[in-house]
Amino acid sequence: MTTHDPKALRNAFGSFMTGVTIVTAVSKTGEKVGFTANSFTSISMDPPLLMVCPANKLSSFDIFEQCEHFAVSVLAEDQQHASNCFAGSKEDRFAQVAWHEDAFGTPLISGAVAHFSCSAFEKIPAGDHLMLVGQVEHFTHNEKFGLGYAKGGYFSLGMEHKAEEVAHGQCARVGALIESAGKLLVEKTAEGYRLPAVDISSEKGSRATLAAFLEQLGGESEIGQVFSVYEKSSTGNFIAFYRVERTGGQTPENCEYVPIDALQNLNFISYDLTTMVNRFVTEKQHGVFRLYVGNDLEGDVR
Ligand SMILES: Cc1cc2nc3c(=O)[nH]c(=O)nc-3n(C[C@H](O)[C@H](O)[C@H](O)COP(=O)(O)O)c2cc1C
Repeated sequence: MTTHDPKALRNAFGSFMTGVTIVTAVSKTGEKVGFTANSFTSISMDPPLLMVCPANKLSSFDIFEQCEHFAVSVLAEDQQHASNCFAGSKEDRFAQVAWHEDAFGTPLISGAVAHFSCSAFEKIPAGDHLMLVGQVEHFTHNEKFGLGYAKGGYFSLGMEHKAEEVAHGQCARVGALIESAGKLLVEKTAEGYRLPAVDISSEKGSRATLAAFLEQLGGESEIGQVFSVYEKSSTGNFIAFYRVERTGGQTPENCEYVPIDALQNLNFISYDLTTMVNRFVTEKQHGVFRLYVGNDLEGDVR
């Protein structure tokens, strides 16, 4: 036994960004089993070897410990449902996703980015997990983006790229959630509060326009991830909001810094700003920021 705080250790391990896979096998009596795993690692090219680590406590552990074949499906960005299903569902997991069999009769999750059909090469007990090493007998892969996982949440690079593309090419305005010492910069108007935003000059992208705007404000600003990209249905124009950390500089005219936990009391001028700021407050509390892409009424949060 060690004296490490298990929660802190889990969080430290979880800070390593990974993809998400579903590992499958069939028992000697023909029962199909599978679990979600991010312990996937490629090991060797010659022979072609990979590894996944099933936990001793898995209900299917004995089957993986004894298997002669297993398969790994690397999930695509739109397969979060399959990941959740194979991480938690107590119902028949294979009734909830589309799948097909490989040459050994092992189920492969359809729609995945890559499939690896393996024969068991080595099984090494390691603490409360088994290092299950497989020799790749067949594999397929395609151009889709994979599903990402970090700090206990999913992310999607495809979605991030799309947002960057929209934000760069089609946005008419760019705005910012400017944070400084636990407060957010808001602008007061006669109709209510809004967030600082400017029109994008045609020769610059959204990020460069925002950088120029922040420079005018003075102080030090660091532009972070895109937080929201959406189309205003009234005008058909896109607006992108970035998160920004700012230190120093003046507070611009008609603007004020409001403590983040007091933001929900403010009356914003539009529904899209209200919902965006509410999401910002919640995500700030959890420390995990997601990305919204859609219009001002509905869209996807990833
Ligand atoms: C993203 C993600 C990654 C996971 N990675 C692993 C892993 O590498 N090894 C493992 O044993 N469990 C892993 N789990 C947990 C298992 O998927 C989960 O405990 C399992 O499906 C429970 O199956 P059971 O109800 O049949 O025991 C992961 C879960 C998630 C959501």
